[in-house]
Amino acid sequence: MAKRRAVVTIGTLGLERTSSVPLYRQLYDALRDAILSGRLRPGSRLPSTRGLADDLGASRNTVLTAFGQLLAEGYLEGRVGAGTSVAGTLPETLLRARPEVEGTKRPGRRPRLSRRGAQLLGMRGGVAGAAIVAKPFRPGLPGLDAFPFDLWTRLVARRWRRVPRHLLDYGDPAGYAPLREAIAAYLGEARAVRCEASQVIVVTGAQQAVDLAARVLLDPGDTAWVEDPGYQGARGALIAAGIRLAPVAVDAEGLDVRRGARAAPGARLVYVTPSHQYPLGVTMSLNRRLALLEWASASGAWILEDDYDSEYRYSGRPLAALQGLDTAGRVIYAGTFSKVLFPALRLGYLVVPPELVEAFIAARALADRHSPSVTQAALADFIDGGHFARHVRRTRALYAERQAALVRAAQRSLGGLLEVAPAEAGMHLMGWLPAGVDDRAAARAALVDGVDVPPLSAYRVRPTGQRDRGGLLLGYAAYTPRDIDDACGRLAAALRRLRRTE
Ligand SMILES: Cc1ncc(COP(=O)(O)O)c(C=O)c1O
Repeated sequence: MAKRRAVVTIGTLGLERTSSVPLYRQLYDALRDAILSGRLRPGSRLPSTRGLADDLGASRNTVLTAFGQLLAEGYLEGRVGAGTSVAGTLPETLLRARPEVEGTKRPGRRPRLSRRGAQLLGMRGGVAGAAIVAKPFRPGLPGLDAFPFDLWTRLVARRWRRVPRHLLDYGDPAGYAPLREAIAAYLGEARAVRCEASQVIVVTGAQQAVDLAARVLLDPGDTAWVEDPGYQGARGALIAAGIRLAPVAVDAEGLDVRRGARAAPGARLVYVTPSHQYPLGVTMSLNRRLALLEWASASGAWILEDDYDSEYRYSGRPLAALQGLDTAGRVIYAGTFSKVLFPALRLGYLVVPPELVEAFIAARALADRHSPSVTQAALADFIDGGHFARHVRRTRALYAERQAALVRAAQRSLGGLLEVAPAEAGMHLMGWLPAGVDDRAAARAALVDGVDVPPLSAYRVRPTGQRDRGGLLLGYAAYTPRDIDDACGRLAAALRRLRRTE
């Protein structure tokens, strides 16, 4: 290929002498960008290192270092000091990726995704949104104002100050042993879960728990019952594993086992939230629990119990987990620290029957090896030091007050617009719209007034029917009574405006 002399000027390279980025690095970046953007074409000859150093007012060493790096990475060809040019065979794909390298997306062109990839993209509303900035009444978020961050910082810092070698190597994919023990003891006492520490697998949260269960226990094309309405995050993880969903209606007693057994008798797994159904908030009755266990045991299906916010029960006796009633070893139990501590901690746990432990640990190791060891150690200290139990007690009282504040504020300002009744458990309440009001339209109207109330329809698997009453989810745990009061006023204004325009 005929070599063309490149025009490389100081102006186009834009080096900054006052920058904290070393000059050689700036020169490397500038030349690499020029190559990737096509300003320096394949085969273009570069000036001599001495000439360029003079032009730039830089030392020759600076230029030699930048050229050396670009040669090593394949952007340039030749030999430093004997004439260098832009590589003539830059991979096509690299050049085509250019606009994104520069941060400009090409409009109207989509990458070709797998069928599953496209399906996942369509589900992104479930959990994959950008970082959520909590604003009333976005549900699922804890009251961060109540978390003892000073204490947590001390515990984490202490661990890092005296970090032993074994916490810096690859760790046990099942989790840090003292944390597994602390979780097993807590679950036995607080949730009547029957397990040994060896059955506890520390995961990054309920999301990974569902993903692992789906991939370890089911094959693509297998069917799973999911609650309808139900948690989109779990549905998404099942779909990602190629599982077919069989939506099963939820009534005042929880998941309707008889309906599920009729509609999808061959299902291999049932995803349930028995302690506090998400999002309706009902508790699964003992009869239904026993019926589900019996059906699963007879049909050889697995039950995946998601016990995501069971710490928050304000009246009545604490309910034992479904897992504790299971005598046939069909229940996989999942819990999370996202609700009771904070979601960005990304720690949760699975309790699996002994004969499944090895398979789950293998799958976990292959997914992402393990959760961060030092954070796990700090959490074990937090639990062992009694801080976890104290935090649960404190937030339980706080969230009960916040729920009461929501009910009072709703009575004051939402009468006739949204029916909000107190509940015995959880971190959100359902607000019921008058018959015929479209909850998606209501949620959109609320957003205009700065109130975030996900519509119940968004949680349904089957399309919302004429007879389905519209609802809005009102999370309260993360918000102060003043925020709650203010947001109820704005929600009322939005719902009134909607009524006028309908
Ligand atoms: C039903 C349900 N399960 C689990 C979770 C928590 O998931 P993770 O532990 O992955 O944060 C949530 C959070 O919103 C949820 O609503």
